[in-house]
Amino acid sequence: MLIKNVHVNNQADLVDVQITDGQFTAIKAGIKVRPNEQVIDGQEKLLLPPFIDSHVHLDATLTAGQPEYNETGTLFDGIRIWSERKKSLTKEDVKRRAKQTIMKMVGHGIQHVRSHVDVTDPHLIAAQALLELKHDLKDQVDLQLVAFPQEGILSFPNGKQLMEQAVKEGLDVVGGIPHFEFSTEYGWQSVHFLMALADKYDKLVDVHCDEIDDPMSRHLEVLATEAYERQMGDRVTASHTTAMGSYNDAYTYKLFRLLKMSGLNFVANPLVNVHLGGRFDTYPKRRGVTRVKELDAAGINVSFGEDDVQDPWNPLGDGNMLDVVSMGVYVTHMMGYSQLQNSYKFVTTNAAKTLHIEDQYGIEVGKPGDCILLNEQNFYQTLNRHVEVLYNIRHGRVLAETIPAHTTLH
Ligand code: FE2
Repeated sequence: MLIKNVHVNNQADLVDVQITDGQFTAIKAGIKVRPNEQVIDGQEKLLLPPFIDSHVHLDATLTAGQPEYNETGTLFDGIRIWSERKKSLTKEDVKRRAKQTIMKMVGHGIQHVRSHVDVTDPHLIAAQALLELKHDLKDQVDLQLVAFPQEGILSFPNGKQLMEQAVKEGLDVVGGIPHFEFSTEYGWQSVHFLMALADKYDKLVDVHCDEIDDPMSRHLEVLATEAYERQMGDRVTASHTTAMGSYNDAYTYKLFRLLKMSGLNFVANPLVNVHLGGRFDTYPKRRGVTRVKELDAAGINVSFGEDDVQDPWNPLGDGNMLDVVSMGVYVTHMMGYSQLQNSYKFVTTNAAKTLHIEDQYGIEVGKPGDCILLNEQNFYQTLNRHVEVLYNIRHGRVLAETIPAHTTLH
């Protein structure tokens, strides 16, 4: 396949990109077309590596309103409503909804997804369903599955055993939810437990960590200490960390030293954080988002996720990472021109680091021929016009193609 005349990664120069046997084999101007080669006219548009959603919950997707809508908009009502809906889960139900959302994502240029899967279920129905779907859809998307204890590890019957069982059944990443455990002590113990479990089975870690507007929620320092002492930092991710938006600056200054030493990754979920955050404030209302700008400036890796697509925690969502980046740059005060131009990193290269797939990701000769063609010349204009992904290409094969809508003014 030959993609003609594109701006790769916002670069000013126009180049052609050639993919042979599923891998990038040449990136330069003026590549000659080979006999019978498929040619895509890049129209001087932006070519990026595929989008990555580094944090989503596919087991709960498309359940908004079942059995009721979350009218308070709090995390806790979301958990209550989900635990009701969970009672009627079947494998077919999970697979049908998750597949529908994954197909939306593929249409919007996503090829890598890290999905948390609720394992506080004695039958692990959602985990088994998503493991099957991961295999079924491997030609469309790389699915990383996190054993996520939605109702706690120490605070749920047999929580520890269920976590270990889920890992043994093949889930890729060990999760946690220390701020939701009954007590701070249980929260700490859950972090020690999950890190030991990940170490034992050689798994990645991604913890829902301090997703609460409580400045006393400080499990992040426990997770970072574990990551540092076990030298697992680049394999460990702290998701949400919204309490950091409420920490005082003196404590945060001290904390950042440890965060940098540990090499931890962070995931913020701007849409859902700003929606669920600040719900117990009158005025002033907090934004409920972690310190993305400061983490980024300190050289700490941060990526963005959509978190929820039409479920008890977010009634909206369309599997489009441009929605996520737009909210992200607004709510974190990252709207300088170069910040906007570079903001695609939160859903591409930074997310690849979070998912630990950097060696197989990016538009470089020798890497898998995965890329997306956006209907604008650079990422600033991509955000401005919220443009379509014209082509989603995986291993040199077109996965999805979009014809832009056309408006006629009278
Ligand atoms: Fe989440």
